[in-house]
Amino acid sequence: MTKPRAVSDLPVLDFSRADYQASPFPVLSGWARKWKIARSERGVELLDYDLCRKAIIERNFGTGHPKLIEILGLPEGRPLEYKRKSISFFNRGRRRTELRRPITKLLSEETAEAFRPNIRNVVTEIVNAIPANRPVDLVSTLCDRIPSAVYCHWVGAPASDADFVARTSHAVQQVHTRDPKHAPAVIAAFEALIDFVDERIADRRNHPGDDLLSDLIRAEKAGQLDADDLRNWVIKLAEANTDNSSHQIAIAIIELTRRPDIWARLGANTDLAARAVQEVMRYHPRTISTSREVLSKTEVAGVVLPVGTPVFANIGATHWNADHYHAPEVFDIDRKDEPLHLNFGGGAFSCIGRFVVTVEVEETVALLAARFPHLRLETARFSHSPMFTSVAELVAWLEPDAKQGCTASRD
Ligand code: HEM
Repeated sequence: MTKPRAVSDLPVLDFSRADYQASPFPVLSGWARKWKIARSERGVELLDYDLCRKAIIERNFGTGHPKLIEILGLPEGRPLEYKRKSISFFNRGRRRTELRRPITKLLSEETAEAFRPNIRNVVTEIVNAIPANRPVDLVSTLCDRIPSAVYCHWVGAPASDADFVARTSHAVQQVHTRDPKHAPAVIAAFEALIDFVDERIADRRNHPGDDLLSDLIRAEKAGQLDADDLRNWVIKLAEANTDNSSHQIAIAIIELTRRPDIWARLGANTDLAARAVQEVMRYHPRTISTSREVLSKTEVAGVVLPVGTPVFANIGATHWNADHYHAPEVFDIDRKDEPLHLNFGGGAFSCIGRFVVTVEVEETVALLAARFPHLRLETARFSHSPMFTSVAELVAWLEPDAKQGCTASRD
């Protein structure tokens, strides 16, 4: 019988390598061909498809969020108090299930679909305001605006609050850098966000409407959650919404416009947007890994993992695994009968916003491809951490053939 190995025996991955930073997926898939499990500065790294799925859904792998916050060194105060009570600090069990129930119902696949016409209007209004006759920063004018405008709609806030919502979401997501130097900015953003949310809740209690926050208040009145849980959800939605969604919208625009044949197909048949978005999320996902922590001593692929070991499921490696995806290095919107991507994690921790953000990306891609068949990227730059794909720059010209002085304004 082979003796179980210790974590210290594992090969070490270096995510700071230039080739990883430039193009992480071939590097991850190369590592996955050599090793099922490895380690890095942040913890144990799972590279094998089945091990990643197992870590994502199995009971013995709990939330990695408390450790993340500990590493960041958040002091006592409102942000830490919120974090401790928010969904991210709860492991599998009754409390987690009960907390998620009302919000998963309100953001289900069916409600996201019913919300599609509103999202289409939001996207159309935002695109109408973008000048088409010159290169424009699409991150600030489009990608940030869509999810933050949707959030404003959810909480009954004026559209003029969208910039604040986007800014704070980007700032609070810095927790994932695992770098304490970002703690002051994270704290300041949470403080501002908490005040904003308290104001919104007070406003909707006095003036209920046809929005998500009013629905949550109705759920509270029906005894499905208490006032604290309600507040924590409204903060959590702001935290998780804009940053991730904005980067994924930007990734989709870059990957699809860089392939003129696919862009032309989408423009001619916008029904293809759903398939194209699924392939973007597989080929170049926003989520490169998701974190877990070992709850009781266990053995994975012959390696003993003590309690508290931080474990990372490298979703990027699973998406480029040739045993599960035919020619994974090929961007192919016609894929059939292959597993769904893991961009939104899974199981008891799965992303609450997955349906609504998928609709946002689809509607953006469909509108842009139909209206701007010649959309040209001026500058597009990705940056990759072990956790995420980010779009560091996206400047594009919507209608490069348009005459100077015209804008894109039309329905
Ligand atoms: C493309 C954009 C997005 C991506 C790639 C993304 C990805 C993820 C991932 C990977 C997780 C962790 C899942 C796991 O570890 O199993 C997660 C959790 C979460 N996401 Fe998203 N997300 C996105 C957009 C959103 C949006 C728009 C919302 C809110 C409306 C949202 C709300 C949440 C929440 C609340 C959680 C925590 C769930 C829990 O702990 O139970 N996300 N997301």
